[in-house]
Amino acid sequence: SRPFIVAIDGPAGAGKSTVSKVLARRLGFALVDTGAIYRCVALKARREGIAFDDDTGLGALLARVHVSFEVVGEDNHVFLDGEDVSQEIRTPENSMAASQVSSRPVVREGLLSLQRRLALEAPKGAILEGRDIGTVVFPDADAKFFLEADPDIRARRRFEELFEKGVERSLPDVLADQVKRDQDDASRAVAPLKPADDARRVDSSLLPLSEVVRTLEQEILARMARR
Ligand code: C5P
Repeated sequence: SRPFIVAIDGPAGAGKSTVSKVLARRLGFALVDTGAIYRCVALKARREGIAFDDDTGLGALLARVHVSFEVVGEDNHVFLDGEDVSQEIRTPENSMAASQVSSRPVVREGLLSLQRRLALEAPKGAILEGRDIGTVVFPDADAKFFLEADPDIRARRRFEELFEKGVERSLPDVLADQVKRDQDDASRAVAPLKPADDARRVDSSLLPLSEVVRTLEQEILARMARR
């Protein structure tokens, strides 16, 4: 039978990455960070000078792009054509670029099979985090969650994360970037950011992420037992 598929969607800064990472480790599941895949496509387009609305150029790029993941210690490293780009894909410029290329249907279509393959080749189960996992990539996922949080709280989390990485960006700038990215992600024509009808919505504004992990883990274990 196929691996157990967990979809975790939600806006930027809702805690998806942290929660997904901890859950994957605890459950022994593969982790598929789909945002990192869009970020790799954006980085490659920037490096090659391909405009974010050049569908022909992006289509050709997709045929050449090679993204893979590898767990190194506690961290999930991302490789673009064999190069570790884990840091570089997360700069503010590349975040905006990722949001722009991800609005192009040619890019979304082109990345569907990769996302599905990475999950389906996992021996036991896979956690996929993104924006459209429960709605488009795996509408028949075994468990679906939509993580949300107050925008100011999300921006503060993101600000602290960037600060720790040495990226000096003011809190108002982080919030402005986030608002723009959320609006773009939620308003695009194809696969917009929205909860699947059958997703469990979890608001992490006032919960420690360890509590969110516990909530999701309990539901996943219950569903695994029933499957
Ligand atoms: O999750 P992360 O912030 O790394 O995603 C970067 C961007 O990639 C998002 O702003 C969104 O535009 C895009 N994305 C997407 N669909 C996904 C995951 C990410 O459109 N499943």
